[in-house]
Amino acid sequence: MSEPSNPPTLPLPLAETEAPDRLVRPLLVLARWAEEFTARRRARRTDAGPSIWEPIHLGTDENGHPVRVPLIYRNMLLAGEPGAGKSVGLNNIVAHAALATDCRLWLFDGKIVELGLWRSCADRFVANSLDDAVSALLDLQSEMDSRYAVLDDERRRKIAPADGVPPIVVVLDELAYFSATVGTKREQEAFSVLVRDLVARGRAAGIIVVAATQRPSSDIIPTSLRDLFGYRWAFRCTTDTSSDIVLGHGWASRGHTAASVAPETKGIGFLLAEGGVPRRIKAAHLSDEQVYALAERAAMRRLAAGIAHGQDLDDTTGGAA
Ligand SMILES: Nc1ncnc2c1ncn2[C@@H]1O[C@H](COP(=O)(O)OP(=O)(O)OP(=O)(O)O)[C@@H](O)[C@H]1O
Ligand SMILES: [Mg+2]
Repeated sequence: MSEPSNPPTLPLPLAETEAPDRLVRPLLVLARWAEEFTARRRARRTDAGPSIWEPIHLGTDENGHPVRVPLIYRNMLLAGEPGAGKSVGLNNIVAHAALATDCRLWLFDGKIVELGLWRSCADRFVANSLDDAVSALLDLQSEMDSRYAVLDDERRRKIAPADGVPPIVVVLDELAYFSATVGTKREQEAFSVLVRDLVARGRAAGIIVVAATQRPSSDIIPTSLRDLFGYRWAFRCTTDTSSDIVLGHGWASRGHTAASVAPETKGIGFLLAEGGVPRRIKAAHLSDEQVYALAERAAMRRLAAGIAHGQDLDDTTGGAA
């Protein structure tokens, strides 16, 4: 960001008692302006960026109000028909997490190209290999277990910002690719069991799972798994039943159904937060150019903070951090 090279130097404001009245007001205004200018400059210099402990901007609601949700200690499920806007929705979360240098980012993307743009910000990027996916999830599971061992030793229940233990944001674009499409039945089951364990136990250890699937069917999202996700975001679904599979049984009959979203209105979905009522929202849309720019900026910030891993861009098979 460009700044004036020579900020104006201002005379010190005169105390009211020392100055004639007509001078006091403009000088005070100028002094306040100078203070604001300095504060803005200081804020720009420190530019802490977002934090994973802060709410994440997802889009806008029907009244045009911003929708921001905290993801720490929570998980999120996104589902909806192909092209409904799940990956665009995911990008908002990944952008926030990538720019936040107080968390780690693990990305799983069977399509490679959706989350691939963020690869240089990821501690681990898993592409279309189920083997790599399972081995990454096993590593996450042992990280989770060792975090719980430390918490147990310290007789505490969950990680806190002061610990310096970074939350890990785990983003899976297309759950069904790993759990039902590639690999053997056994590998798929291993994958599903590990995801379920992370979703069920990861929250207090700072492991946040954000998973998307274009198959809102009960074989991909059994009720017992669905209910573990505190946030459920249903993008356009073809039927009330599939919308209910995402949001929970009964919402469609109460008028909250993602089947009501017109096919041509991309990015509209119903967001359900723990204990609430689904809200119809439109996901913010980051263009490819914006994603490139943000990913580059986030990678630089991570490098500067000493936490970047910036995997080799030619490595499309994923790999270790
Ligand atoms: N919030 C949005 N605002 C504007 N356009 C959007 C929005 N969401 C999606 N789109 C448009 O719809 C297209 C498809 O969106 P996206 O890739 O996110 O769908 P998807 O649900 O991930 O599909 P798939 O299941 O095939 O991966 C985007 O390329 C974009 O052009
Ligand atoms: Mg997608």
